Amino acid sequence: MIEALAELIRNHQPCVVLTGAGISTESGIPDFRSPTGIWARYDPMEYASISAFRRDPAKVWEFYALRFEVLTRAEPNEGHRALAELERRGLVCAVVTQNIDGLHERAGSQDVVEVHGSIRTASCLACGEHVPLADVVTALRDAPAPWCPKCGEILKPDVVMFGELLPMDAIDRASALARAAGVLLVVGSTLEVYPIAGLPEETLTAGGELAIVNKGSTPYDGRAAVRIDGGAGEALTALVEALS
Ligand code: APR
Repeated sequence: MIEALAELIRNHQPCVVLTGAGISTESGIPDFRSPTGIWARYDPMEYASISAFRRDPAKVWEFYALRFEVLTRAEPNEGHRALAELERRGLVCAVVTQNIDGLHERAGSQDVVEVHGSIRTASCLACGEHVPLADVVTALRDAPAPWCPKCGEILKPDVVMFGELLPMDAIDRASALARAAGVLLVVGSTLEVYPIAGLPEETLTAGGELAIVNKGSTPYDGRAAVRIDGGAGEALTALVEALS
C-alpha cells in the first residue's frame, strides 16, 4: 500500500497534507476520540467550549494546565519529520493541521496552516494583550490560571474552543489548498469535526484524489484512492523511503 501511496503522490501533485491528533500520539500527546482519548475522560463541552471558559475559566484552565504540561514536553516524532522531508523534496506543498502542539514547525515543516490555533500564545479577551507560551507556563507553576499582565483579567489559550469561530484566514487558505490539491493526504484524523472535515470533499469535488493514513475508520474511507490503516510514523517513514 505504501508503493500505491507513493505512486499517487508522484502522479498527483501538488500534495497537501491534513493532519489530526493521530500524528502526535507517538509524541506522547493523547488524541481525542480513540478509546484512550481525551474526550473519553473529559466532556469537551465542559472543558473545551468558549461558554465553559466564560462560565468558569479556572476550571477550563485546570484542563489546559494538564494539556500544557504534556504539550510543552512533547517532541516531534518520525511522522512529523517525514512530512518535513517530503516538503523539502517538493513532494508536499503544505500541511494543514488541526493540532495545536506546534510539532510540525518544530520538525521543520515550513508551510503549516494551523486551523485550530496553537498554544504558542494566550490572549486577554478584555484588553487584547498576547502572552507567549513561556510566560503562561511560568504563571501556571504558581497559579491555577494565567492573568493578563496588562489588565489582570484571566487569559485564554489561543486555541479554538467549541462554539468559537475559526481563524478565517487559516480556514480560507486550507480550503484553497484543498481545492488545488492533486491529492489530499489525511493523517491521523477521524474527520468528524467541521469545517475541516469538509476539506476532503473540496478536494474530491475539484477533481483531486484522497489518501488516508489512520488507525481506525473515517467517513471518507470509501472515497480514498489509497487507505492505510496503520501508524502514522511508520507509514510516513516508509513513504519517504518509497519516494527516494
Ligand atoms: N497513527 C495513525 N493514526 C492514529 C495514531 C497513530 N499513531 N494514533 C491515533 N490515531 C488515530 C485515531 O485512531 C483516530 O482515528 O487518529 C485519529 C484521531 O482522531 P481524533 O482523536 O478525533 O482527533 P482529530 O481528528 O484531530 O480531532 C479533530 O476535534 O476535539 C477537536 O479540536 C479538536 O482538533 C481536534 C478536532
